[in-house]
Amino acid sequence: MDAEETGGVVELSRGVYWVGAIDWNGRDFHGFTTPGGTTYNSYLVIGEKTALIDTVKAPFTGEMLRRIGQIIDPSKLDYIIINHMEPDHSGSLADLKNQTNAKILITRRGIDILNGYFRDSGSENWDIGIVATGDQLDLGGKTLMFLEATMLHWPDSMETFLKEDRILFSNDGFGQHIATSKRYDFEVRDILPEAAEYYSNILMPFHIPLLRYLGVLARLEIEPLQIAPSHGIIWKQDLPKILEAYRSWANGEVKEKVLVIYDTMWGSTEIMANEIAEAVRVAGVEVKLLNLRKNPRSHIMKELLDAAAFAVGSPTLNNGLFPTVGDFLVYLKGLRPRKKKAMAFGSYGWGGGAVKIIEQELKNAGIEVFEPGLQVKYRPYGKELVRCQKLGEKLAAAAKEQ
Ligand code: FEO
Repeated sequence: MDAEETGGVVELSRGVYWVGAIDWNGRDFHGFTTPGGTTYNSYLVIGEKTALIDTVKAPFTGEMLRRIGQIIDPSKLDYIIINHMEPDHSGSLADLKNQTNAKILITRRGIDILNGYFRDSGSENWDIGIVATGDQLDLGGKTLMFLEATMLHWPDSMETFLKEDRILFSNDGFGQHIATSKRYDFEVRDILPEAAEYYSNILMPFHIPLLRYLGVLARLEIEPLQIAPSHGIIWKQDLPKILEAYRSWANGEVKEKVLVIYDTMWGSTEIMANEIAEAVRVAGVEVKLLNLRKNPRSHIMKELLDAAAFAVGSPTLNNGLFPTVGDFLVYLKGLRPRKKKAMAFGSYGWGGGAVKIIEQELKNAGIEVFEPGLQVKYRPYGKELVRCQKLGEKLAAAAKEQ
C-alpha cells in the first residue's frame, strides 16, 4: 500500500507518518504569490524512540498536534529534528517545548537562529544537540542520518535520511507551494510546473550549494525511494523526474524560449511589446508576453527559469521606472538567474530614462545585455515598429544561440 490514511494522518511507510498542516488560504509566501495555498509538512518517525521531523507555521500548531496525537501523546516525543529554522517550519517549537522534554537536534548554524527567534521562550535552557553531515540517530529500528544542506535555503538548512525506509526528508528542497488533500505525486496531476515555480522563487540563487549537495548524496550513495519535502507532495513515482529537473535547473539549462516582460501607462510600451513578441513568434521561437500587472512576479520567474532570452519594457514615469517594473527588477536581482540574455525597451514623453535604468539593473543582476535598448517617443509608428520587429528577431536569434 502506498499511502495509508487514518483520520488525516498518512503513513509513508511502517511507523512513518505525515502529521503536517494544510494552508488552504495562504496566498503570499514572503513575496511569492501562492494562488493554490501551501502546506507545512511534519513527519513522525516511530522506532523504540520517537522523532518529529520539522514542525509547522505557528498558526497551524494545533492542526499538527492533533495529527501527532492520533499516533502518540505529543508529550512523549523523544526528539525534534529541526531541518531548518525559518518560521514556516519552526513556528510551533515553543508550544511543543512547553509540552515535552524532547531533545532538539539542529545544525551548528541553526543554534544562533533558534536563539534569535526563541530566546524569550527560554531556548537557552532547552536540551539541544548539534548534528552534522553523516551523524546518525538510532531510534531503535529506525536510523536517521543527517545531511547539512547549507543555503538550501538558509545557512542552517539540513535534510534527514531515514535509512531503513530510504526516505529523504528534504525540508525546502524539492518542495512546491500547493495545498492539496493528497500527499503523493501520483495522486496529483502535473506537479512538476509547481516544483519549477517553487525552485525559481526559493532556491534559484543557490545553484552552487545545490550542486554540492547533490554531490554529497551521490558520494554517500543515498538513493531515496521517497523524497518527502516540507512543502507540497511527496515524490515517489516521479522521483527520478524531480531529481533530473533539479540537476537541469541548478546547471542553468535553458531552451529556445523568449519572454517579453513589460508594463504600460498609455499603451505605447504595450504596442512595442506586442510587436517584439510577434517577431519572435514569426522567427519560430516560443515566446510569452507577460504584463507585470496581470502576472505575479513569482509566476514570471517560473517562466524565466528555462528561457534563454528576455526583454523588459517600461514607460518612463517621473524620470524613472514604472513602479511594477522597478519591483520586478529588484526581485529578479535577488534571485540571480543565470545564462540569460536580455534587452530593454520602452516609451517616453519628454525626458526619457527608463530604458537606461532597466539596462543598468539587468547588469547589476549579472545578466548580459546583448543589445542596446529601444526608446520610442510618445507612440511607435512605421519605422519604430520596424525597429521593434528587429529587436524581436534578435531576441529569437539569441535564444537559438544558447
Ligand atoms: Fe520553507 Fe526556508 O522555509
